[in-house]
Amino acid sequence: MNQPGSSHEAIIVLDFGSQYTQLIARRIREANVYCEILPFNAPAETVASRKPKGIILSGGPASVYDKDAPKPSFNILEETDCPILGICYGLQVIASDLGGEVLPSNNREYGYARLFISERESPIFKDLPGEMDVWMSHGDQVTKIPPGFRVTAHTEGTLNAFEDLSGRIFGVQFHPEVAHTPFGGRILQNFLFRVCRVSADWSPRTIIAEQIQIIKSLVGDEKVICGLSGGVDSTVAATIVHEAIGDRQTCIFVNTGLLREGEFETTCALFKQKMSLNVIGIDEEGEFLSALRGVTDPEDKRRVIGKLFIDTFEREAGAIGNVKFLVQGTLYPDVIESTSVRGPSAVIKSHHNVGGLPERMRLRLIEPLRELFKDEVRIIGRELGIPEEFLSRHPFPGPGLAVRVIGEVNPEHLRIVRDADRIIEEELRLAKLYDSVWQAFPVLLPIFTVGVMGDFRTYERVVAIRAVTSADGMTADWARLPHDVLARLSSRLISEVRGINRVVFDVSSKPPSTIEWE
Ligand code: XMP
Repeated sequence: MNQPGSSHEAIIVLDFGSQYTQLIARRIREANVYCEILPFNAPAETVASRKPKGIILSGGPASVYDKDAPKPSFNILEETDCPILGICYGLQVIASDLGGEVLPSNNREYGYARLFISERESPIFKDLPGEMDVWMSHGDQVTKIPPGFRVTAHTEGTLNAFEDLSGRIFGVQFHPEVAHTPFGGRILQNFLFRVCRVSADWSPRTIIAEQIQIIKSLVGDEKVICGLSGGVDSTVAATIVHEAIGDRQTCIFVNTGLLREGEFETTCALFKQKMSLNVIGIDEEGEFLSALRGVTDPEDKRRVIGKLFIDTFEREAGAIGNVKFLVQGTLYPDVIESTSVRGPSAVIKSHHNVGGLPERMRLRLIEPLRELFKDEVRIIGRELGIPEEFLSRHPFPGPGLAVRVIGEVNPEHLRIVRDADRIIEEELRLAKLYDSVWQAFPVLLPIFTVGVMGDFRTYERVVAIRAVTSADGMTADWARLPHDVLARLSSRLISEVRGINRVVFDVSSKPPSTIEWE
C-alpha cells in the first residue's frame, strides 16, 4: 500500500527500545498529529523521505557509553534541520554525540521526582508551573552539556532538561509520555505546536477517507476476500473495505466449533443485517474437531487450526474466482514489533492471522489498520457505525476455545469452557466490570480433584478464571476482581457447569506469563 501517512505532516519517533516508545506515539496522535515510529538506526534518507516536522529520540535500556550502544545512523546536528527532542536515553544520545558527557549516576532515579524549571520561557515549558512531578527511570546522568546548550530544568541537584541556544534541539531526562507526569502531555504539545509548528490534521475521519481512496485505486475491478474472526480488528478492516468496493469483497466467517456460545449464528446475522457485509458463514465444525482429535501440544493445535483456516479460505476463494487480495486487520503494534530495536521478537505463540495464505494463493495484502492502535480502531469503528456490541467485545484468539482447553480438545471439554465462558461474561456484565477488564475467560485444566456434593464424593475437573487489565494485550496485569464477584463466579460455575468441582483464580501478570494459557 502507499507510503503510510504521506499526506500528513509527520513527527518521527526513533525507537531506542524503551517500553514507552508506543506511548510517545499515542500522546502525539492524541494531539491529532501524525506520527511514525522508526528503528533507531533508520537511514537518514528514510527519515528525510517522511519530511518530518520534528524528530523525537525515545528512551531505551542501554547506556550511551556502552560499546554497542544504539545510536542514530546520521549526525543529528548536521544531517537534520527540523526540531529534535530527546527523552531519557534520547537526551543522553544528544549530550554524548554533540560534545557533552554522560556518566553512570550515583543517584539513580526511578519513580516520581520533583522537577524545578529554571528557564520558564523555554518553549517546551511555556505556560506551565515552575515545579511539577515527573516520572523518572534512568541510571545515567549528563555531567556536561554540549557547547551551545543551556540547562532548563533540574531535579534535586541533577540536571534534567536542556536545549540548544538556537531553540532547535531539546532534551528531557524524565518521561513526559507517561500518565505519571501530569504535565507531560502539555510539554509534548509545546514541542509539537510551539517548536515544530506541525499541523493537527490526523483524525479517525481523515484516516477512513484516505484508506477508502487508497483501496479503491489499488483494487480497481478485482475481487477481495476477508477472513472475519468476529473480533474488532477484522470487522473494522472489512467495513472500511466494504465502503470502498462494496460487494466485490467477500467476507468469510468460519464456524470452527471453537467459538463462544451462540457466536457463529449471532455474529453472522449481525454482519449481514446491521452492517450489510457480503458474508459467507461456513460450518467447518466437524473438520476442525476431527483434525484436533488427540492433539495436546499448544503449538500443534495452533498449526492444525491455522492450516484448516488456510484450506477453507483457499477453497472458498477458488469458488468465488478471480480473487487477488486478502484483507487483514493487522494493527500498528504488530508492525512495530518486527522492526523495533528489540528486533523480531522470538516466537512465543504462533498467532493465527491467516499466515501462509497470501503466499500460497499469490494474494496481495490490504491492511487498512496497519497505522493504528487498538483504541484508535475502536474510535474508527464507532465513526463507521459498527454496533457497540462488536466494538466493546473482549478480544478472542483465532484458535478460539482450543487454547483454553489444556490438553485434548473434544466436544465435552468444549461444552465445559463454553458454559463457563457464558457465566463469566454474564457475571462481569452484571457487576459492570466487563468494559474495564481487557479479557476474562475460563481455562479448563487437565486435572481432577476430589470434592463433596450433597453427601457424595466427586472427582472432577478444575476451571481457572483468567481476567486481565491491559492497554494493548502486549503487557497485562491480573484484574483485581472484587471478592464477592469471585464468590458468585465460583458458586455459579461449580453448580451450573457439569463436570467441574473446583475453581481457581489466576494471579499472574504478563510478562512473565501470557494472557492465554496456551
Ligand atoms: P497472549 O496469550 O500472547 O495474548 O498474551 C495476547 C493477546 O492476543 C490474543 N491471542 C490471539 N489472537 N490469534 C489472535 O488473533 C491468536 O492466535 C492469538 N493468541 C492469543 C489473546 O487473546 C490476547 O488478547
